Amino acid sequence: MAKSKIENKSGLMEKIVSLAKRRGFIFQGSEIYGGLANSWDYGPLGVELKNNVKRAWWQNVVAERDDVVGIDAAIIMHPKTWEASGHVSSFSDPLIECKNCHERFREDHLFEGKYGEIKTEHGKPLCPKCGGEMTESKKFNLMFKTFVGPVEDSGHQVYLRPETAQAMFVDFKEVLNTTRKKIPFGIAQIGKAFRNEITPGNFTFRTREFEQMELEYFVEPGTDKKWHQYWLKERIAWYVKYGISKKNLRLRAHSKEELSHYSAGTSDVEYTFPWGWGELEGIANRTNFDLSQHSKYSGHDLSYFDEEKKKKFIPYVIEPSAGADRSVLAFIIDAYREEEDKDGRIRVILKIHPQLASYKVAVFPLLANKPQLVKLARKIYDDLKKQFMTAWDDRGNIGKRYYSQDEIGTPWCVTIDFDSLKDKKVTVRDRDSMKQKRVPIKELTEYFREQLGNYV
Ligand code: GAP
Repeated sequence: MAKSKIENKSGLMEKIVSLAKRRGFIFQGSEIYGGLANSWDYGPLGVELKNNVKRAWWQNVVAERDDVVGIDAAIIMHPKTWEASGHVSSFSDPLIECKNCHERFREDHLFEGKYGEIKTEHGKPLCPKCGGEMTESKKFNLMFKTFVGPVEDSGHQVYLRPETAQAMFVDFKEVLNTTRKKIPFGIAQIGKAFRNEITPGNFTFRTREFEQMELEYFVEPGTDKKWHQYWLKERIAWYVKYGISKKNLRLRAHSKEELSHYSAGTSDVEYTFPWGWGELEGIANRTNFDLSQHSKYSGHDLSYFDEEKKKKFIPYVIEPSAGADRSVLAFIIDAYREEEDKDGRIRVILKIHPQLASYKVAVFPLLANKPQLVKLARKIYDDLKKQFMTAWDDRGNIGKRYYSQDEIGTPWCVTIDFDSLKDKKVTVRDRDSMKQKRVPIKELTEYFREQLGNYV
């Protein structure tokens, strides 16, 4: 029995960051220029994994449901959007600056001890970096500003969206008119959001550019609490379905002071990251705040008429809002294993859910210098890659190839050997059990399809 080598989480983050870089999941953005702080690029394996996470979310939240439709809206929206939503006046963090070294901090994070132990003088916090005196706190708006067109004045100022959600409110009537959906129903979107975070960090956990997977679910007022509970359960179940251990997840309700300006109640889905519990997703009861505000600011009536009940109302909204980058990070961390094999070697395995794995299958000819084996292996590889993301490896020995695929989470490896030339069967090796099985070549596609289906 393989022995697990991860007794505690210290050092785990360094291992994850190093694996992500070494194997091309995630690396520093603009690295050749010395890197742009806290910007990260998804490499060839990372983009596959992230796309699979987004697909799994879309499948669950949109495709499999009758009551949710999707949109893909513009990132730059009419600037009035952000006045109506309250982001211009309220989307800020408390900023304090060191008068000596001019480092800037989030005041709330400082008091939560996120920059280390707090030192004070006359009851006021001192700079965690140099011990200098700090300024009073001021509100720092997190929205990135830019201009549309060649004139850079306030009349042409716009914002990069800080959440994808507002498009679902602004487009509410268009979607309603074109789909004829009846309440309760939802509008979903996956896309980039931008926040000029004061202190980003913890790898891809807090960045200034990130992707959200958001659903705005419109319900009749009075049914909102019931639907809030419903989405809390649904969303936790999604993370568990795709492999995150239940014990590493929790729901945390926001205190009154913590609630966003639009929320009557929010619970976060949190994951126990190596540095502690952190938010993966916020699930808020946004009431009718946004639709009411956009009705007021645009002059368009965004109420809903219930034909059956002959009743007009502004719908309430339940919003499960997840981060794609944080989900990817949590899926990687939760899947990471180190096991000692019978020869005392450490085997790193990413036991990631097969549907999320970057590659589903890897194909190897037993020996790279035997043309007959390579020819058959190539044929199998060419066929499989039309169906699944498939890797090819003919370097080193089979053991090394297995370990290399284990480290990136490929669930199945296919080896073509001399027997394959005669019996038209190949060896399929399973990542998690390490068991091997002979499977007829002509049944391979069906075999993997079934295997993947078993994980649904
Ligand atoms: N529309 C509601 C909303 O945006 P939020 O809690 O501010 O709510 C939702 O953000 C999710 O977006 C978070 O749970 C997190 O997963 C992700 N997120 C927010 N800020 C982020 C950042 N700076 N970097 C990475 N992901 C972030």
